[in-house]
Amino acid sequence: MLFRNARLENSSSLTDFRIADGKFVELSTVKEDGTSALLPLPQEEVIDLGGKLVLPPFVEPHIHLDSALTAGEPRFNLSGTLFEGIDIWSERKHACTHEEVKERAFAALQMMAKNGVQFVRSHADCTDPKLTALRALCELRDELKGTMELQIVAFPQEGIHSFPNGKELIRKALEIGADVVGAIPHFEFTREYSVDSLNYIIELAQEFDVLVDVHCDEIDDGASRGLETLAARALETGLADRVTASHTTATHSYNNAYFSKLTRLLRMSEINFVCNPLVNTHLQGRFDTYPKRRGVTRVKELLEAGCNVAFGHDDVRDPWYPMGDGNPMDVTHMGIHVNQMMGYQQIMDSYKMVTHNAARCLHLEDNYGIAAGRPAHFIVLNADTWYDALNTRAEVLSSYHGGKLIAQTQPRLKEILF
Ligand code: FE2
Repeated sequence: MLFRNARLENSSSLTDFRIADGKFVELSTVKEDGTSALLPLPQEEVIDLGGKLVLPPFVEPHIHLDSALTAGEPRFNLSGTLFEGIDIWSERKHACTHEEVKERAFAALQMMAKNGVQFVRSHADCTDPKLTALRALCELRDELKGTMELQIVAFPQEGIHSFPNGKELIRKALEIGADVVGAIPHFEFTREYSVDSLNYIIELAQEFDVLVDVHCDEIDDGASRGLETLAARALETGLADRVTASHTTATHSYNNAYFSKLTRLLRMSEINFVCNPLVNTHLQGRFDTYPKRRGVTRVKELLEAGCNVAFGHDDVRDPWYPMGDGNPMDVTHMGIHVNQMMGYQQIMDSYKMVTHNAARCLHLEDNYGIAAGRPAHFIVLNADTWYDALNTRAEVLSSYHGGKLIAQTQPRLKEILF
């Protein structure tokens, strides 16, 4: 199949590319006279993209599919705090059944697929003696393989050392087949438990050869310093970029002298970061009067320090966040506002936060990116540039995974009647 006149990743020139057997085969720049080195083969299907923006697919590096679409069950979160959300989920999760979790997660994934997402890292709460959600999400991951790619994180929502049998449960989750091990150091009862929980999951990551993704310092407490422990262990063990620190909202409240000193370790450790701008803008700063903190990690400073940072959605209509339809464009839009990343080039580059940078967190490596020999995963947006796409909330016209069309959208018709 030959695709003509694609605008790859904001490029000033257009590109023709051919896919076959699920992979990108050849790419060729279109010359000013409209010709390129790629000519249609006999009986080859040709699709003219007309200069539309083509990107590698969106990667969702942080979402909770097990709680997705449960907002209001059994009640809405009225304080808007992380901690009321945990309490509500603690009540709601007893009603989870294997099929019910799968159905909701699949509905959320379909919403995301419509928005161009093809790769997803989902946390699964493993502070549940039956591990119902984790088993359901692992099964869904296996069923969707080849259409959407999921990674499942063994996530101890109510703590490892602070929850009955927490250590055994997270180990069991890895034995069942979780791809990633998590932790929640800021929620542990004590600072000692916090450090011990991180040491424990680093050992598990080495034993089971899995990636690490920690809900790290998701609190407005400048004394919450799980990040330094996580980064030090990543450096010392060589796990390095196999480790992701999600949220790290406490960095917002660190004093600048400490953050400056910490930055050296963060850079040396090579760990990844995920900022969840929609949800943390909603959840954080809830104990402030005025001025109210923005409640997101220091994205701009981390990027300037050379760290890899991605944007994630975190929650879709659940006890922590009552809104959303899994659209990475909404995440990016909020992310560049709240992090004050609104220079023209920063806006143009912001698509990388939900594509390449997120792919690095998931270690997608050669399974990702538009290049000859790689799987033909890509999306076509109804815009010429990312700047226009963000401003118009452009539709993802088509989404190809391994050369297979997995989602398409007809452009909305908007008419002016005056
Ligand atoms: Fe989260």
